[in-house]
Amino acid sequence: MAVDLLLGLQWGDEGKGKIVDVLTASYDIIARFQGGPNAGHTLEFEGIKHVLHTIPSGIFHPTAVNLIGNGVVIDPAIFKKEIDGLTPFDIDLTQKLLISKKAHLILPTHRMLDAASEAAKGKAKIGSTLKGIGPTYMDKTGRNGIRVGDILTPKWEEKYQSLKAKHLNMLTAYPENKDMELEVLEKAFFEGVALLRSFQIIDSEHYIHSAQKQGKKILAEGAQGSLLDIDFGTYPYVTSSTTTAAGACTGLGVAPNQVKDVFGIFKAYATRVGSGPFPTELFDEDGKTMAKVGHEFGATTGRPRRCGWIDLVALKYAIAINGATQLMMMKGDVLSGFKTIKVCTAYKTAAGVQNHLPYDLTDPSIEPIYTDLPGWEEDLTGITEEKDFPKTFKDYIQFLENELETPIKIVSVGPDRKQTIFRG
Ligand code: GDP
Ligand code: IMO
Ligand code: MG
Repeated sequence: MAVDLLLGLQWGDEGKGKIVDVLTASYDIIARFQGGPNAGHTLEFEGIKHVLHTIPSGIFHPTAVNLIGNGVVIDPAIFKKEIDGLTPFDIDLTQKLLISKKAHLILPTHRMLDAASEAAKGKAKIGSTLKGIGPTYMDKTGRNGIRVGDILTPKWEEKYQSLKAKHLNMLTAYPENKDMELEVLEKAFFEGVALLRSFQIIDSEHYIHSAQKQGKKILAEGAQGSLLDIDFGTYPYVTSSTTTAAGACTGLGVAPNQVKDVFGIFKAYATRVGSGPFPTELFDEDGKTMAKVGHEFGATTGRPRRCGWIDLVALKYAIAINGATQLMMMKGDVLSGFKTIKVCTAYKTAAGVQNHLPYDLTDPSIEPIYTDLPGWEEDLTGITEEKDFPKTFKDYIQFLENELETPIKIVSVGPDRKQTIFRG
């Protein structure tokens, strides 16, 4: 049985958590393949709003198994907080949540290194979530990392102390380094490690392969977005993992020829949190309205998200990199009331008009070229069928579908599970 992927096509926060939750009813296994607690995936149902960071977004479904794959980095302290937050829901987590032995651990000193490195960059900072993501993936590729499987071995303490000593030495290179009270961080870390040990820690790639043989339906859940991908994103203003489709292969052990549908998810406009180029960013009232109506604040850090018009140059690029087979458009409801909706269809650059994503998106000569479309006044949040969409909203969807040459299969008109409309 092939595996389907769901991933973000913009700079993250597209609504992945909501849609994974909606789709889980059709799957047996939901598997996160990369990222860590830098992610904040929001789900809303029955009046409850819940934000997940490391745990896959299928966890509230009664039967699906949720797997944290080898490509994920886990902070045991944050993991414990997440697990504690799930207590009221009475979920049998020891049966429903599996963790890969090969997932890497975020150490307290990784977080300290992240903070020190960002502080040292000054104005050039990435705007990292300060969760230790960059330093942890650096240790993974540098072959120094500690994996979840290590906590089950007698050499674990020794490994931990040795990597910690290395990090403390590195930290002396940062004069700005602020004391993050290592002892306090370590206490929470070791409590988290003890909790992790009580879960099923498995050879997750074998588990996935045998589930495939048994005909189980698997959905791989991405974190961040394609424009934050370490290779194809707006480097260096990116995260440190492969957020695009290929990341599901390396982050779970799924063979490329076993990938079936790739669900690409995007907002009807665009947002970005943290530093880095964003050609269609708005600094005017329109941007402020999007931020206010869309409640655009980071689900992990609470930072305000930058807002702007939809960018089809960037979206087409993301669709191509991922091989998206279907699209899902989120937050169309936020655009209700705009007289005109702008869609960026090309960039004006010093080298002329360009339809492909330039190498350096920080190039100050880049200006978006917009097509204006008429907006809609109606509130979309109570609509349950496509036929009831206002004509201009239908035209907006049609315009995007034609430009992106990929079917938009789901339109979301609010944060709740129920505010989800399947098309065609
Ligand atoms: P993720 O990181 O991709 O899972 O997305 P986040 O959870 O960080 O951010 C998406 C935000 O938009 C959350 O607050 C969701 O509850 C909310 N949301 C999702 N879909 C819709 C929608 O169609 N309309 C509105 N108004 N909010 C939505
Ligand atoms: P979800 O899964 C939005 C951004 C940070 C920063 C850059 C690098 O909720 O969509 P990092 O902490 O990874 O070193 O930060 O990436 N970033 C996100 N932005 N949504 C996310 O996750 C993000 N995860 C990281 O703001 O600009
Ligand atoms: Mg998010």
